Amino acid sequence: MKRKEFIKTCGLACLGISTMGLLLQGCVPTKNISAAILEENLIVPESNFFRKDKPLKYLIVRNDKLQFPIYLFRFSESKYTALYLQCTHQGNELNAYGDKLVCSAHGSEFDNKGNVTNGPATQALRSFPIQIEDQNILISLKKA
Ligand code: FES
Repeated sequence: MKRKEFIKTCGLACLGISTMGLLLQGCVPTKNISAAILEENLIVPESNFFRKDKPLKYLIVRNDKLQFPIYLFRFSESKYTALYLQCTHQGNELNAYGDKLVCSAHGSEFDNKGNVTNGPATQALRSFPIQIEDQNILISLKKA
């Protein structure tokens, strides 16, 4: 194989691999649920994370009283994070792709802890304290 052909082949292979990565991120199963608010907590039964094979990585939790949904990410049996899906740049709703949150308005990206990984947003996402009681995840909506 000549040098030029080799470089062309490697370039196409790299492009294919990066495209495949993006496609696979979009294939992470997303489960939307509606959760009740009791007192100042959004109540999410842990059972929502479990399916036949393995636990889901995250849920999108909605309630009519919330303008935007909450992204509830499961790091482990006892460690979760709850993030408000409102972009800190200009307030657009974010989309979840696995452990990455993306704003379709201007391209900001956040990780599963709410940190900015790509601008123009500069502030982390609003997060909520979490407690686990009786196999329920309690997301505190109390203002700090
Ligand atoms: S509103 Fe999200 S990047 Fe601008």
